[in-house]
Amino acid sequence: MIITTGGIKGGSGKTTLATNLAIYFSAQGRDVLFVDADDQGSAHAFSLQRAAATGGQTGYTAIRQSDKEVRSEVLKLAGKFDDVVIDTGGRDTTSQRAALSITDVYLAPFYPRSLDVWTLEKVESLVSEMQLVNPKLRAFSFINRADSQGGDNKDVADLLGESSVITYLDTPLVQRKAFANAISYGLGIFEMKPRDKKATDEFKALYDALFSDLAIKAY
Ligand SMILES: Nc1ncnc2c1ncn2[C@@H]1O[C@H](COP(=O)(O)OP(=O)(O)O)[C@@H](O)[C@H]1O
Ligand SMILES: [Mg+2]
Repeated sequence: MIITTGGIKGGSGKTTLATNLAIYFSAQGRDVLFVDADDQGSAHAFSLQRAAATGGQTGYTAIRQSDKEVRSEVLKLAGKFDDVVIDTGGRDTTSQRAALSITDVYLAPFYPRSLDVWTLEKVESLVSEMQLVNPKLRAFSFINRADSQGGDNKDVADLLGESSVITYLDTPLVQRKAFANAISYGLGIFEMKPRDKKATDEFKALYDALFSDLAIKAY
């Protein structure tokens, strides 16, 4: 399965999600290709940190691609892997469109603030256009860096939930130091010691919501 993290806003948590998905798949014994399709290279930098932290045992194969090559190179390699995770940048780029042209699943995190949520329509248009060339594409949204309390999450959840193009997963990841710390150590959220149970429970709930029978069949 090919999974792409995207959106058209920086800082929503695309790379955080992508690194955790790649590591989580790999921890289940799956062969994972992790593609950094963002010219900023955050996923690549993470993988270097992870290689240093694990003595080279990252658990996945990491590559960097941009522009149309995101499509051609991933198509060439995808058959050799169980899963491909593609991390894209926070703009509507050729790289993100190339990823959308081949991905099965598109996952867009939303930081629950107006400026971020106002990009929803544009993300919907992007997904709709790419579904014309890639009819198997399924798109999902969720709230990341949620406030631990307050009504903002609910308002944003209602807005995201109204989309008919992008399925809203009501399994937010709260703003937690553990998510940010894991990235800086080159680790997945489950690898942190001590574990932050709230953070791992949230990630598992998101993962289960995505790969439940309801959301994605045949996985
Ligand atoms: N749930 C979270 N809790 C705390 N910090 C987070 C969370 N998700 C992301 N971050 C932090 O927010 C920043 C942006 O996340 P990142 O994954 O790089 O976003 P993007 O790839 O969409 O630009 C990073 O510093 C990251 O560590
Ligand atoms: Mg990123």
